[in-house]
Amino acid sequence: MSSTHTSTVETSHVQEGDLNTTKTVMSEPKGRMAVDGNPTNYGDFRDQLNRDGFAVVKGAVPRNRAESYADAFLGYLEGFELGYKRDDPSTVKLSNLPVINEKGMILSYGVTHEQWVWDIRGEPGVVDAFAKVYDDEDLIVSFDVVNVGFANREDLPKNTPWPHQDQDPAKPGFRCLQGLVNLNPCGPDDGGLIVCKGGHVLSEKFHTEMADEPRIPAWTPEWFGFTDKAMQWLKDHGLKWEKVCAEPGDLIVWDSRTPHYNVAPTSQQDRLAVYTCFMPVKDATQEQLVRKRDAFERRLGTTHWPNAQHVAPTNEAMRDGKPCPKSRTGPIQDPVLNERVFKLTGIPYIKSTA
Ligand SMILES: [Fe+2]
Repeated sequence: MSSTHTSTVETSHVQEGDLNTTKTVMSEPKGRMAVDGNPTNYGDFRDQLNRDGFAVVKGAVPRNRAESYADAFLGYLEGFELGYKRDDPSTVKLSNLPVINEKGMILSYGVTHEQWVWDIRGEPGVVDAFAKVYDDEDLIVSFDVVNVGFANREDLPKNTPWPHQDQDPAKPGFRCLQGLVNLNPCGPDDGGLIVCKGGHVLSEKFHTEMADEPRIPAWTPEWFGFTDKAMQWLKDHGLKWEKVCAEPGDLIVWDSRTPHYNVAPTSQQDRLAVYTCFMPVKDATQEQLVRKRDAFERRLGTTHWPNAQHVAPTNEAMRDGKPCPKSRTGPIQDPVLNERVFKLTGIPYIKSTA
């Protein structure tokens, strides 16, 4: 995708009183960010994003609201009435919790459309961060999953690394900014995102040079897994992996080309996160928006791609090969969205003929 990145330096002639003076002013690039690794001068998280392929947007959600979302998240888990109690770590067991995979994701139960999840997506500081990167206020958001990584899990398969990028190598350039809102303290030993710093810049070179490397099977072309040889290539090119640390209410964003995965906590701190990924509505087709509307109306989830490239077929969770008795067709609390947040569903942008 081409960028409309322009020079960061403009010379303007301004008249002050009776004097004609020439000033050099720094102005922000206009249009969607290039995210190309070249120095930028935004003076905010975008400089880190451009340079490193990821960034932490501090305090995107005010601390008190982040705490209330964490409370809602834990209350949600307790609300299944399977035995989990937040104050009793001994209750953290498969049988006491809704179905959560070894990567910490809750994929079913309509959780993606719970009111508290929508409230997080609709947080002004979250939406505005994406609006800044795309230089576009007309955005749509993914109906993506939530993540809970409990400390000291022994009854789950090991969360082995699955380094990947979430973008089709055949479609290079900056296309999608992913994100997650972090709700608990997330230090070096706590569970969370780990990224290959600067990997976005070398993505195209990597895929050119490593084109013959056998591809790890993926269910979508928009996912590329890094083999051991591929990991060695990244290392040989000086790239290092970095665990992203954040405080409650911080938004972590990353370019879909940046290699990443998540790690389980080795500390006593549980991880709570909600994925939030936005893109300009103009990047979605009418057909995609109609599919997204259908997903919203049926309270189904998508992947992180906001244009509903893939929609989950069902909200039913499978437990030991059988439907979980606590399966539901939709959220416990059906979401009520204000006008700005409803626009993020993409529905208001559907033309009447679509
Ligand atoms: Fe990913």
